This record gives sequence, C-alpha cells and structure tokens, in this order.
Amino acid sequence: TDPLIRQALVDGVRERMGYPLAQGLPELREAIADWTRRRFDVVLDPDRQVIPTLGSKEAIFSLAQVVVDLDGGKDTIAYTEPGYPVYERGALFAHARPLALPLLEENGFLPELDALDVDTWSRLAAVWVNYPNNPTGAITPLSFYERLAERAREHGFVLASDEAYSELWFDEPPTSALQLDDLTNVAVFNTLSKRSSMTGYRSGFVAGDSELIAALKAFRPTVGTAPQEFVQRASVVAWGDETHVERTRELYRRKRSLFLEFFARKGVRVAGSEATMYLWLAIPRGETSESSEAFSERLLERGVLVTPGSYLGAAGEGYVRLALVPSEDDCRRAIEILEGVL
Ligand SMILES: Cc1ncc(COP(=O)(O)O)c(C=O)c1O
Repeated sequence: TDPLIRQALVDGVRERMGYPLAQGLPELREAIADWTRRRFDVVLDPDRQVIPTLGSKEAIFSLAQVVVDLDGGKDTIAYTEPGYPVYERGALFAHARPLALPLLEENGFLPELDALDVDTWSRLAAVWVNYPNNPTGAITPLSFYERLAERAREHGFVLASDEAYSELWFDEPPTSALQLDDLTNVAVFNTLSKRSSMTGYRSGFVAGDSELIAALKAFRPTVGTAPQEFVQRASVVAWGDETHVERTRELYRRKRSLFLEFFARKGVRVAGSEATMYLWLAIPRGETSESSEAFSERLLERGVLVTPGSYLGAAGEGYVRLALVPSEDDCRRAIEILEGVL
C-alpha cells in the first residue's frame, strides 16, 4: 500500500477512539463523491447517496437482508455465474431464492435479460451484476445498465452493481452504473481493495439511490460494520490520489502483456479479459475435451495454480481463471513451466 495512505492511517490513531458511526466521516463521504465526479463525471450528494463500508464483501453479503421481503413476494436474488460466490450466499442466508444467470461468451458475458419471465421479474428483490467481471474480465456498455435499470424501476427491484474492479483497466476506463441518468433502485458497490491494494484495511462504499442508502444507514448500526475511523482517514487519502492507482495498473499491464503474448504464440484463446487482474482462458480442445478441473490439476502438478471455471459456476466449464497476482518474476517462471505443458 502506498506510503501516503499508510501514514494517514497512522496519523488517524488517536489516544481515544470512540465507536465509529455507520454513516461514516463526512470527509470520507465527500472524498468518495469527489472521486465519482472526477472518475465518472457523476455528482452525488455525499450526505444522502454515499455510505462507507467495511470492504465491500460484508455489504454485498448483507444487501439481501435489507431488500428481501418474503411476505411481500420479493423473494428472489439473481446474480451472474460464473462469479463471486457471496451474492448467492447472501441470498441463502436471507432465506431468499437464489437465481443464477449464466454468462456466456457468445453474449459478450452479459446475462440474457429476455430469458426471464414476468413472474420471475416480479419476484426479484435484487439483481447482482459485476463489471468489470470476475472471473471473465468482461466489461459492459452503459446501455446494458440502462436496460436493467429500466426493468428495476418497472418491477421494483434493486440493480446491485459490484464494481470492485472498475480501476483495473488497460484500454478504456470502464463504465459505472452511477453514470445512469436515473439512480432510482440503483446501488453501486466499490472498494479500495483492488484499486489501492488495500485488502487488509477493509474499506469500500455503497452509492446510489438515496432511499436505499437511508435503509442501509438504518440497518448497519445493528450489524456493527462501520469502518474504523483511522481506516476512514487513510481511505480519504486513497480515494483522493490517482498516482498510486496508475502504478498498480502499470504493474498488472506488464504481467498481462507477458501472458497475452505467450498465449497468442501458443494459440490459447483468451476470452473476455478486457479488464480486472484475471485472464479467462478457454481450455485448448485436444482430441478429448478435458474438464476445467482436470486441466487445472494438470497445471497444478507442475506448480501453476489456476481456478477451474466450473468452481465459479456451471457456465464456467471450459475455461480456467488465471490471476495476475504473483510477482513479475514468478509470472515469467509460470510461463516457462507452461511452455512445456501447453
Ligand atoms: C467480484 C468481487 N466483488 C467484491 C469483492 C470483495 O472485495 P472486498 O471485500 O475486499 O472489498 C471481491 C474480492 O475478491 C470480488 O472478487
């Protein structure tokens, strides 16, 4: 983590530290609103449209507790698969019906909205989408958010957009659901974990529809998930600086180029993978078609760890996810090993 951010954390530790408030420090909400203005050209009201979170995982998990209404017929949480497992777990812990929407390469890894029937639309409490996407690395045009937000208003569900990887891009900065003209029923989740390499600090935010933010302000004090004030003060510095983020992107860009060049040479197809720290590899089709698990095991035996696509959802079969997290030297070593395997 950048030294300026670490110093802000240290400076934030006072002799007495009371309980932090769930609504967060005004300075942090303003820093987040400033960031969304600079990054997406979106003006948010920091008092009514932003709330800090303890990283984004806890907020993602607990959204279902806030929006599911079993008696009122809002009993379904939809999410895309392959994907981050927490959307489904949050739904299950709220006794909601989880509904997986497959992400297929032929659809640009966007869910097929027309595949849902009217009954399903009316039962939805929330639809989770995640772009740039983990694991496929796919990005989305704003028009997809527009279509989904229109349905969210029509059928009364929350469009929950997990944008954890919005800053790990290589060509064009990705879109955000915050760029929609109408943020009714829209909640965007972001985090400093990937952007600022601050996984251990636990700092993120939810922004969007002011009614939903008010509901979170009412719910969250009970759960005790307000970030520590010294973490919030470090977060003010992190959201306010782009230099360290550019350095992070540059590091991923270099590692990504090494692998892209190698896979192109080997004729291994890289699907999606426009952004994020992941590469989504189509398993080379030999005479027999190998499962993603068997392919991953074969690589693991040589010391290269990838995630079988099927572990991340049924539609992930046929692919593996490679995470560009090891050092550049280790990435080069992995390529040497893969030379002999692929
Ligand atoms: C898609 C996605 N969303 C959210 C998160 C949660 O990140 P954090 O809780 O560190 O903010 C992750 C972490 O890996 C992720 O992959």
